[in-house]
Amino acid sequence: MKILVVGATGNLGRQIVRKALDEGHTVRCMVRNREKAQYLEQWGAQLFAGDLREVDSFPPMLNDIEVVVLAASALANRNTKDKTNSIANVDDAGTRLFIDAIKAAGNLHVIYASMLNSDQFPKDKMMGIKCGIENYLKASGLPYTILRLAGFLQGVISEFALPILEKKPIRVARTPSPIAYISTLDAARYFVAAATRPQALNRTIGISGPAAWSPQEVISLCDELAKVNQVPKVSILTEGQKKFNELLAKMLDPNLIDLLRFSEVFATGIPYEANMEEAEALLGIPTDSLEGLDPFMREYFVVMKRSLRKKNYQEPKVRSSF
Ligand SMILES: NC(=O)c1ccc[n+]([C@@H]2O[C@H](COP(=O)([O-])OP(=O)(O)OC[C@H]3O[C@@H](n4cnc5c(N)ncnc54)[C@H](OP(=O)(O)O)[C@@H]3O)[C@@H](O)[C@H]2O)c1
Repeated sequence: MKILVVGATGNLGRQIVRKALDEGHTVRCMVRNREKAQYLEQWGAQLFAGDLREVDSFPPMLNDIEVVVLAASALANRNTKDKTNSIANVDDAGTRLFIDAIKAAGNLHVIYASMLNSDQFPKDKMMGIKCGIENYLKASGLPYTILRLAGFLQGVISEFALPILEKKPIRVARTPSPIAYISTLDAARYFVAAATRPQALNRTIGISGPAAWSPQEVISLCDELAKVNQVPKVSILTEGQKKFNELLAKMLDPNLIDLLRFSEVFATGIPYEANMEEAEALLGIPTDSLEGLDPFMREYFVVMKRSLRKKNYQEPKVRSSF
């Protein structure tokens, strides 16, 4: 298959590129910065300079392509010099224009990276965009596969593991949603399978890891593995703190507000866990082959401790609660 990956330098996108190349597909990547994306070229992918805000860049990369993977997002963009790289311009308007360009290029199969529960939060900007793009894609008449993903395992490192190691405070929601985190490597397997399996055509499929975890369970696991001499400082995020964070975001980076508000969709108690029997039946990936949070975190802390030991870090003998 000839596959174009949009968002190829992202956490998920680069794993899709790697997996697709490993399986013998021809892979083309839309990249914004060729220099930063050189490693994709070294792996064997073709690079096409482009940006979802630049319609003129679309047609050349779509020429002769069979499958398009849409895995870009500006939600994590922290380049404050480029404030127009917002979810409104990229995830929404740019993606719609790109779908129009795909349609003009032919009857290409589009695989879209959406989010679990995307249809349950119409008032949230990010979820509203995801749901809107799903509907736009379905209405386009193009063959499609929508993969609704749970949160990525890799995000647990910055959210929980690092603050625990660095003895920094962790704020959790009053009614947090349990999440069945999936590794980006495993998520990529579903995208590449979807590219070749007719069963995946015109389907919306939920994808998650093997088991859902509450923040408290994740914190307990990280605490057990980190072995720092301090009990994790966990507190409930208050309305006052939320308002203060939004005020601060407004001053520093308006795009940060979308990210802050988006975090509210994980503060409702609604679980983020897919029906993996359906995913297994349609995409042929055994659920018991997926990496769970426990082995992923154990491996992470082994590597982390090894590198800390090289820097002469001593494991503590006594624990303090301060
Ligand atoms: N992260 C999660 O837990 C999660 C969960 C469910 C679903 N998803 C979805 O999965 C997809 C991938 O997420 P991710 O976490 O891998 O994202 P990510 O690491 O933040 O990567 C975003 C990608 O989008 C590209 N991008 C940003 N602005 C762009 C623009 N104007 N034009 C073209 N490309 C642009 C980035 O390119 P540069 O390198 O040039 O910035 C990068 O390749 C997204 O659609 C996201 O909504 C993510």
